[in-house]
Amino acid sequence: MMKNKVYNIIALVYLILLSACEVSTTTGVMNDDIDRKVEELVSQMTLDEKIGQMCQVNGGHGHDESIKNGAIGSILNDVDPINVNRLQKIALEESRLGIPLIIGRDVIHGFKTVFPIPLGQAATWNPELVRIGAHIAAAEARSTGVNWTFAPMIDISRDARWGRIAESLGEDPYLASQLGAAMVKGFQGDDLSSDKSIAACAKHFAGYGAAEGGRDYNTTLIPPRELRDIYLPPFKAAVDAGVRTFMAGFNDIDGVPATGNKFLFRQVLRQEWQFNGFVVSDWASPWEMINHGFAANEKEAAKRAINAGVNMEMATTTYRDNITELLEEGLVKEETINQAVREIIRVKFELGLFDNPYVDAANQNQFAKQEYLDAAKQSALQSMVLLKNENNTLPILSSNKKVALIGPMANEMYEQMGTWVFDGDSTLTITPLKAMKDALGDDKVLFAKGMEITRTQHTKGFKQALKLAKKADVIVFCGGEEAILSGEAHSRANIDLPGVQNQLIKELKKTGKPLVLVVMAGRPLTIGEESAMADAVIYAWHPGTMGGEALADILLGKANPSGKLPVTFPKEVGQIPMHYNHKNSGRPANPNSWTQMYDIPVKAPQTSLGNESHYIDAGFTPLYPFGYGLSYTSFEYSDLKLNKSVYQDSETVIVSFTLKNTGEIEGEEVAQLYVRDLVGNVSRPVRELKGFKRVALEAGEVQNISFELPIAELAFHNEDMQKVVEAGEFQLWVGGDSNATLSQMFTLEK
Ligand code: BGC
Repeated sequence: MMKNKVYNIIALVYLILLSACEVSTTTGVMNDDIDRKVEELVSQMTLDEKIGQMCQVNGGHGHDESIKNGAIGSILNDVDPINVNRLQKIALEESRLGIPLIIGRDVIHGFKTVFPIPLGQAATWNPELVRIGAHIAAAEARSTGVNWTFAPMIDISRDARWGRIAESLGEDPYLASQLGAAMVKGFQGDDLSSDKSIAACAKHFAGYGAAEGGRDYNTTLIPPRELRDIYLPPFKAAVDAGVRTFMAGFNDIDGVPATGNKFLFRQVLRQEWQFNGFVVSDWASPWEMINHGFAANEKEAAKRAINAGVNMEMATTTYRDNITELLEEGLVKEETINQAVREIIRVKFELGLFDNPYVDAANQNQFAKQEYLDAAKQSALQSMVLLKNENNTLPILSSNKKVALIGPMANEMYEQMGTWVFDGDSTLTITPLKAMKDALGDDKVLFAKGMEITRTQHTKGFKQALKLAKKADVIVFCGGEEAILSGEAHSRANIDLPGVQNQLIKELKKTGKPLVLVVMAGRPLTIGEESAMADAVIYAWHPGTMGGEALADILLGKANPSGKLPVTFPKEVGQIPMHYNHKNSGRPANPNSWTQMYDIPVKAPQTSLGNESHYIDAGFTPLYPFGYGLSYTSFEYSDLKLNKSVYQDSETVIVSFTLKNTGEIEGEEVAQLYVRDLVGNVSRPVRELKGFKRVALEAGEVQNISFELPIAELAFHNEDMQKVVEAGEFQLWVGGDSNATLSQMFTLEK
């Protein structure tokens, strides 16, 4: 059975990984021991050696002398185990104190085996699968000598124009917290010194996702309450999950660049959250504070970053060139430097690098094992979101049917891996074309790209595509965005399907054949018009190495789609920012009465009476809401009950309900729990996600499901910026998306 198979594979991968992890040795005793060793070492270090630990350089060549002199603490971007071993040998055997290097790399959604982009993984709503994905990425990366990744990226992203939304876990603090923590655990394992673990890095602290206008690197304006309630929770969850490093963002928040932000790194991260790992800058971000107009020169930039609590500088040399002078002039204290160095060295000890920084010859370059590919396929399967399925167009059940597979993303081994895949091996990729041919036979799959790439602006390929489409029983159009249209610095002001895809879809529609739209993209695209034309729509994100097989299984009904949107899909770019957990406003829109632009009478008088918050040309609802996703079966929620109706502070709301698979095939549903605090000391969101569960149900099966919601989870920051849970009335919903209607009230008494 499909469901059993899914679980067997997950269980298998889990067991394999578990057996590969050694039992945790991160005990108190070990920490004391590490602290002692750190102290001992730091007390022997010269100032230059300390500065060296705070410097990270790019690439593994040309630095031998500096490593020997103890002038470099970290390298980023060397993935050749032979060279990494060579450099570690220099560090250990030829530098005065023998301090190993920490080797960083962007291992974002897989290493050689590529998993769906993080936004796609977020659509699985499956922390365990996300954890496994990170663990596999870690194991592959560490087999090259990399021992530190710059992930997870847990910037809350409410703006689909921002290219880096692809790298994020979506718009919701609760979902991003759960999945971000799972990634941290996956990368770091139970024992950081295992040859399958690497240190994780929570980035970008903080608020980078709020870039004004969705334009990358742009300034952010985040009110303190929103910072605390929306942007910071995933970072706190990462600390609680044991993340060992943080990265400072490029952005400024209300005028203070993150890299020079004492409030973020000293007060919140270290004082309030008691984080004892270390902070790396983003690439050249101390130096960029000159461009921000926050530092007059490199010396001042270094001063501000160090004093704010950024331990290590990535790529630029403002630290190396200025720390000595800053100390001499008393602008940076010696203890600040000592502490910065202690925190870096502690992580090196935890990684076991002092004992063995080398990759054994037998363990080098361990990539793409079968269980890794199986897990990547599971992740892709659960990440795909069925947005529409009229007349049961999908699945394509008869193997006698001819399928016209059309489109610029149907056979793109590189593009379907998505953004940030420095090491992704595109030769491993299974495309939809390959998978469909393998499943149906060459003669049943008629393939034409129709467009060379997603941005093609001419229609020369249409003729062939239409010719094949006419011969087929069903058309599957596979389009979207190439990998490079999302990711860092690739923000878009218009998030329609690029090139002439819309035109091609229109032409395909005219054939009258059932039309399936598959979108591979790094962000939500405004696909309202194309969705309306299509009979079925699958949002596949950039699904990674095994995306084609996963898609074919879904198209052909070997698997039932179960992904849910981790981010709201707007109809129009002008609706952005658009997120489900918005405020109600004084004039909330009424679903039944918003005035459409074309219905407004000519010379209608302006009035302030009876108005509501909406766009006269786009209303106020999204194209697809947060949490949404269909299945080939259907689910019914009923019998919602709470264990009580009145609660006290320390209690837990036990929410129970019945979930029934009302269709004819087995399927998985992600049941979601939302809450609204009706009246607050400050206005509160109309809904907030507070729980979710992925549940597998046979056809007709009924299960009683429950959520536990500790009252403490209802806390928010009040007018005085105190974190409080307030007495009052709360409404709660359970259902399959953020528009869930099954609801109950409860009261909190103080
Ligand atoms: C990105 C980071 C990344 C770093 C190193 C920067 O441009 O903002 O997310 O980790 O480069 O590659």
